[in-house]
Amino acid sequence: MRVFVTGATGWIGSAVVTELLDAGHDVVGLARSDQGAAAVAATGAEVLRGSLDDLDVLGSGAAAADGVIHTAYIHDFSQMEHAAQADLGAIETLAGALEGSDRPLVVTTGTALIKPGSVVTEEDSPDPAAGAHPRITTELAVKALAAEGRHVSVVRPGASVHGEGDHGFVPVLIDVARRTGVSGYVGDGSNRWPAVHRFDAAHLYRLALEQAPVGGVFHAIGDEGVPTRDIAELIGRHLDIPAVSIAPENAAEHFGWIGMFFALDAPASSALTQQRLGWTPTRPGLLEDLDQGHYFQAAPVTAS
Ligand SMILES: NC(=O)c1ccc[n+]([C@@H]2O[C@H](COP(=O)([O-])OP(=O)(O)OC[C@H]3O[C@@H](n4cnc5c(N)ncnc54)[C@H](OP(=O)(O)O)[C@@H]3O)[C@@H](O)[C@H]2O)c1
Repeated sequence: MRVFVTGATGWIGSAVVTELLDAGHDVVGLARSDQGAAAVAATGAEVLRGSLDDLDVLGSGAAAADGVIHTAYIHDFSQMEHAAQADLGAIETLAGALEGSDRPLVVTTGTALIKPGSVVTEEDSPDPAAGAHPRITTELAVKALAAEGRHVSVVRPGASVHGEGDHGFVPVLIDVARRTGVSGYVGDGSNRWPAVHRFDAAHLYRLALEQAPVGGVFHAIGDEGVPTRDIAELIGRHLDIPAVSIAPENAAEHFGWIGMFFALDAPASSALTQQRLGWTPTRPGLLEDLDQGHYFQAAPVTAS
């Protein structure tokens, strides 16, 4: 297939590009900077220059493709509403360009905000009445498009998509621990974080592209829920600092923006995904990956 990938320069998207190329697909990757374009070209993929605001570019990329994987997202926590709206605009444009065909569109959300406090499955949907995160509009859009028979599916990665070179949540936690001299967890740290290795996630995106039915929902989850205290203790051991409990009311001050996420109890299952797509996560789990040491050799990430 000729596959158009948005977010082709990103942590997940760049692994998806490699996964697709290795499986024999042709890839066109969206890139909005010279540096991004060079990185995409270096993989052997074609480059399409543009950003999420360039809806005509997104439309032409999708129109010329046999399928689309959408992983681009504006990760700016100071403008979450804007990011959600941009995502929605991109998805509607991509789906519009594929309309009238059964060419698949795979989009991305996440398991973390669907139903905190219990194990989220692929059958769960966010409750729009619960004053939820603005990003639930993406989930609702996928449902609406699927109800019209459009060939759209969604991959929900767990809170930590980990691996060598990670610049997501875990490096920020390590950075906070380095700065404060303690490796914190919130309350008793029994709240759970789901996780998946980046390469397992990339493999799942390819299977979803190749096999997903209309409206398919898939969980990129290797670890159903790692207690955050275990994460903090492992970080503490590697940095040789104590793991300590941070009271929930002090979490925002201690951790900054990531405190809200590290306090979440957000376990998620991928049993149905594994059954339906024949996907098996084979890479190391989060704690094993962290214990390999590469997270502690990387340059500090600045929490913004
Ligand atoms: N990583 C995780 O742990 C995790 C967990 C759950 C869900 N997710 C979701 O998975 C998806 C991929 O995440 P990721 O970790 O790969 O994120 P990432 O590394 O931050 O990559 C984001 C991608 O989006 C692109 N992008 C951002 N703003 C853009 C814009 N205005 N126009 C065009 N492209 C733009 C970036 O391009 P540049 O390179 O040019 O900046 C990059 O390619 C996102 O939807 C994310 O929310 C990730």
